[in-house]
Amino acid sequence: MKKHNGFASSLGFVLASAGSAVGLGNIWGFPYKTGANGGAAFVLVYILMALLLGIVGMTVEMYVGKRAQANPVTAVKKINSKIGFVGLLSVIVPFFIICYYSVLGGYTMRGIVSSFTDIGKDAAGVSAGLSDFMANPWLPALCTFLFLGLAVFIIMGGVQKGIEKASKVLMPLLFIILLGVMIYSLCLGEGVKAGLDFYILKADFKALGFKGVAAAMGQVFFSMSLGMGIMITYGSYTGKEINLFKSAVQISLIDTAIALMAGFAIFPAAFHFMEVEGIAASEVGLGGFALMFMTLPLVFNSLGTVGGIIGAFFFLMVTIAAITSVVSLVEVVTQFFIQKFRISRKRAAVLPMILALAISIPVSLSLGGHFTLFGFDLLTFFDEITNTVLMPVTALCVCVAAGFGIKRREFEDNIYVGKPIVGRIISFMARFVTPLLILVVAIFGIYSNVSVNVNYFAVINTAFLLAAVAFAVYFLSLVRVGDTDTGCNADELGYEGDADPADAAE
Ligand code: TRP
Repeated sequence: MKKHNGFASSLGFVLASAGSAVGLGNIWGFPYKTGANGGAAFVLVYILMALLLGIVGMTVEMYVGKRAQANPVTAVKKINSKIGFVGLLSVIVPFFIICYYSVLGGYTMRGIVSSFTDIGKDAAGVSAGLSDFMANPWLPALCTFLFLGLAVFIIMGGVQKGIEKASKVLMPLLFIILLGVMIYSLCLGEGVKAGLDFYILKADFKALGFKGVAAAMGQVFFSMSLGMGIMITYGSYTGKEINLFKSAVQISLIDTAIALMAGFAIFPAAFHFMEVEGIAASEVGLGGFALMFMTLPLVFNSLGTVGGIIGAFFFLMVTIAAITSVVSLVEVVTQFFIQKFRISRKRAAVLPMILALAISIPVSLSLGGHFTLFGFDLLTFFDEITNTVLMPVTALCVCVAAGFGIKRREFEDNIYVGKPIVGRIISFMARFVTPLLILVVAIFGIYSNVSVNVNYFAVINTAFLLAAVAFAVYFLSLVRVGDTDTGCNADELGYEGDADPADAAE
């Protein structure tokens, strides 16, 4: 991609952006959060949030990028020069995500191997295998290291292009396997009805609570890669011919469809194993982060040797999807370091990642109970901080900045050229509905979270972390930020060859 206006067709743009949004968030995150927050009610709220916040947020972010044809910091500064910190947040969020995304990537890699070693075991044996892995004092750390190391290696070696080409073929394959697993899971017979009741039919709002609503909102931001500058970057590659609103709707639909499919693959099977084989909910992973890593191996395992091979292939596909995601996340941080500290690309790729590794290793071990922070496992901790605090705050700032900072006419005319009414609706939503909704959900979410587990340490801890982030943002903004500074838009950094939008996010 040499210059801007990189996307000639809107189909190309939609597919590239959707490819970027689909990842572990859809396949691991959505089913896990659904399972942990009462099922159907969560799904309902998720869909509402995707409509009310996701589509508006994505349209606005893409427009902010398109308007400036620049990286997130510059783009936000072009609205108002005082709010560059919003762009800086979009570097800190990816960094935090790396610290736990790599851990999950490591788990996914393990799935490739364990699909083979699980062949012939019974269901209890399969889930015991995962528990042993989690409790192991070094294996999860090793997998995390391998996963993140691979991503850094790819970036340093400059072979992103090759990985992306491969993933364009492999991702449709992942879709097909997921579809297959979903159909198989729905045909398991006994237990399927209970699974569907839990997943989509019987909404239990008590089990959801405000905490669950906040989790649904966070999941929308994470899954659609919003509130972190990614979609601003994508928007900056678009030209006149791209209809932003339509694209946002299509990307959201694809993203949500994949997430829903993952749920259909997992829940009927989880309930089937619980009912037929008498496995406890905890052993299929229901309610916890390991849901995908526990239930899907049981599904593959029930098919014997063939299932083992299919399972290995599935986890390989998911690993590749996760690697392309983490490569994009590392790329955001790397480009920022190159610009900010004027160091070489190799150093900029390695230095921050040493820090990320130093954080992600305790995170990987904390899942087995080796490292916890005041009773919290670190994965949940980072997940919560990014999803329910930082991303919503950033998304809110961008919506308000764009809604009030850009001339109303200009804003409204550009969202859907030829249909200003759509622009008017989005502008209204961005100014009033979306920010208010984010604020209410975030506040009630944090409040109910705190009041459910009155854990003052956790509160103090969170406060510390937020203060640290605020300080980091302040500190970084003290270092003079040039106009072409930082971020995600390789165009501006003079890496002609690298500046493919597909590099920006996966
Ligand atoms: N949306 C991706 C997923 O669903 C994860 C993700 C979040 C991401 N933020 C990102 C990927 C930034 C690349 C860049 O898994």
